[in-house]
Amino acid sequence: MPVPHTVPVPHTVPVPHTVPASNVARAFHWDAAHRALRILDQRLLPGAMVERDLRTLDDVDDAIRTLAVRGAPAIGVTAALGLVAAFAHDPAPARAAIVAGIARLARSRPTAVNLSWAMARLMRIVDDGQADGALLLDALATEAEAIGVEDEAMCAAIGRNGAAMIADGARVLTHCNAGALATAGIGTALAPVYTAVAAGRRVHVIACETRPLLQGSRITAWELERAGVPVTVCTDGMAASLMREGRVDLVIVGADRIAANGDVANKIGTYALAVAARHHGLPFYVAAPSSTIDCATADGSAIPIEHRDADEVRRLGDRQLAPPHVAVHNPAFDVTPAELVSAIVTDRGVLWPPYRCTG
Ligand code: MRU
Repeated sequence: MPVPHTVPVPHTVPVPHTVPASNVARAFHWDAAHRALRILDQRLLPGAMVERDLRTLDDVDDAIRTLAVRGAPAIGVTAALGLVAAFAHDPAPARAAIVAGIARLARSRPTAVNLSWAMARLMRIVDDGQADGALLLDALATEAEAIGVEDEAMCAAIGRNGAAMIADGARVLTHCNAGALATAGIGTALAPVYTAVAAGRRVHVIACETRPLLQGSRITAWELERAGVPVTVCTDGMAASLMREGRVDLVIVGADRIAANGDVANKIGTYALAVAARHHGLPFYVAAPSSTIDCATADGSAIPIEHRDADEVRRLGDRQLAPPHVAVHNPAFDVTPAELVSAIVTDRGVLWPPYRCTG
């Protein structure tokens, strides 16, 4: 995207290169020597910390579809590493099987462009035709690991670029989880928070609960508490009145796909926050790596929105929350028009409107 002009951000303060990461959670662990992928099963948070090994394409596909691993960058990275793990014990994996595996994982969730972007990177290695069998898998492993390393570096850069927007004492409202557990690094929306905190600023995060799967209250609140960052959970319907009461200074969210004109697809409920932020004169920032920017999609109307099972809304575990057969709307994402986005914080700098893809 688009850098019509990259403006020096206000009150820049020295921040460390990366946040001391000991307490920042990790979405997955990659054992490069054994080509083994282990994820933290996010469906069970905050009640239990359970790790799962993803050994087959079925494992990886299922983990992504059911949100055991989730968040746009994390699903791109784990799909790439998971593809390698799934063929790791085959001495001579067939090219056709690898191609089918890449295509299958690319379909596992439609909205986050990071997934199709990562799978396209692997397909370029296959199409290169330089290697076959075990050598092809070596080349795919190198590429998948690079995707992970790059994502971690992009998160750190987003942190450095966005931290200047967070003054000492800031109250930052966020939605869903765009933290470490959604990436290979320290997150996107939460990266500036971690970086500002590491620089000694006091920051309080308000995490919207994020109906229906509660990524805000289950995952963001857990991740921030573990990292020692003060956090308060609010229900989604409470956010606008917190803004009216003057208890929010800025909003920062992540993104699943940013179209060429700056329209942003993110977790359902994001659009309502952007409207409320504009009404109350608050900055509404989107933080995302370059891999989330999709110059091939002209605007938000062309972004495919995932619709999920109605029972995610009708039920909560064993509890029936609505009549069992009532009709339900359950889009997982919405689109926030570019005109409501104050700035987009990327690894390459802060982008200000008007947004325009340059390729
Ligand atoms: O359905 P999820 O939990 O994968 O949705 C995640 C989000 O909407 C995040 O805000 C987005 O992927 C950005 S993560 C850095």
